[in-house]
Amino acid sequence: MTKRIGVLTGGGDCPGLNAVIRAVVKSATFKGIEVIGIRDGFKGAVEQDFVKLGLQQVSGILHRGGTILGTSNRDNPFAYWVEEKGRKIQKDCSDRVLANLAQQGIEDLIVIGGDGSLNIALELMQKGLRVIGVPKTIDNDLMATDFTFGFQSAVDTAQDALDKLHTTAESHHRVMILEVMGRYAGWIALYAGLAGGADVILIPEIPYSIEKVAEAVNLRKEKGKKFSIIVAAEGARPIDGEMVVKTRLEGRTDPVVLGGVGAKVAEDLEGLIGLETRVTVLGHIQRGGSPNAYDRVLATRYGTAAIDAVIAGETGKMVALKGTEIVTVPLAEAVSHLKKIPLHHPVMLTARAVGLRFGD
Ligand code: F6P
Repeated sequence: MTKRIGVLTGGGDCPGLNAVIRAVVKSATFKGIEVIGIRDGFKGAVEQDFVKLGLQQVSGILHRGGTILGTSNRDNPFAYWVEEKGRKIQKDCSDRVLANLAQQGIEDLIVIGGDGSLNIALELMQKGLRVIGVPKTIDNDLMATDFTFGFQSAVDTAQDALDKLHTTAESHHRVMILEVMGRYAGWIALYAGLAGGADVILIPEIPYSIEKVAEAVNLRKEKGKKFSIIVAAEGARPIDGEMVVKTRLEGRTDPVVLGGVGAKVAEDLEGLIGLETRVTVLGHIQRGGSPNAYDRVLATRYGTAAIDAVIAGETGKMVALKGTEIVTVPLAEAVSHLKKIPLHHPVMLTARAVGLRFGD
């Protein structure tokens, strides 16, 4: 009998998801393996929403943003929302997932996701399912890999925004603040800030002092540069304060929705710098659109490596980038904790060497 595997995309979308799906399907098909796509993340595994994926289904999707399979960051099968007697309650539906996949003849499941989806994959593996993870997220906050796919494309978008904000900053002698995503890690802010020539970068890893931020802006002013560019990661927080939470959405893998730190920094700077300030919140534009060349290549390498791992009989592993090599690492290691920026990371040192300030 032909071997069958399943593939799903979970959590927030990001550039390169379709490139991974395409690589998985192409590589599997050429090696005589059938692929079943599971719609809307783990929801499709609970609700039996399956679709056969062949070469035709993945034709022309390499450059497309989003995911042809759909995704979800709410449908954890171990705490799945169901309606019983007119009330919504959370139930463990993981056995149903195992039964549904077995019924489809799916022997291995490829989970393309961030820490939330990969944690679910790990739990399913502990119940006997064979799983391989593919590290996805614009936040680049997964351990055990140098880069997740999607990150570099998000950085490109943020850098492009910074290039555009520069013109207004310079022409109007203003301070322009760009708030970027990244959750509890500052990778997007750091890379985009460096690439986009920011003057100050605020990241969750370094609580900032607003006086130090003002000092950086004022020093530039004294040298004749009557404008500054500040990049604020959404998870940045002042030394004596908390992260700015926009809202909480219960039922999600992570209920916290961050947002608003840019406005807070602008407000707190008022009166300290004598320049007008404007805030741009980049939001989901960072998650949308085509993957850049780097992410298309990385996503394709991850997809084919995932099939190689399945064929080699591996399970409970995640494909990962280490230097220039794609390797497999234990899933447990990848989700053990979030990968924050080490304060002595070489890119941090480079940023400091060119005079970038972090509000400390
Ligand atoms: O994890 C990706 C990400 O875009 C984060 O950077 C951000 O905090 C979060 O997802 C936003 O989630 P949502 O799209 O559910 O608002």
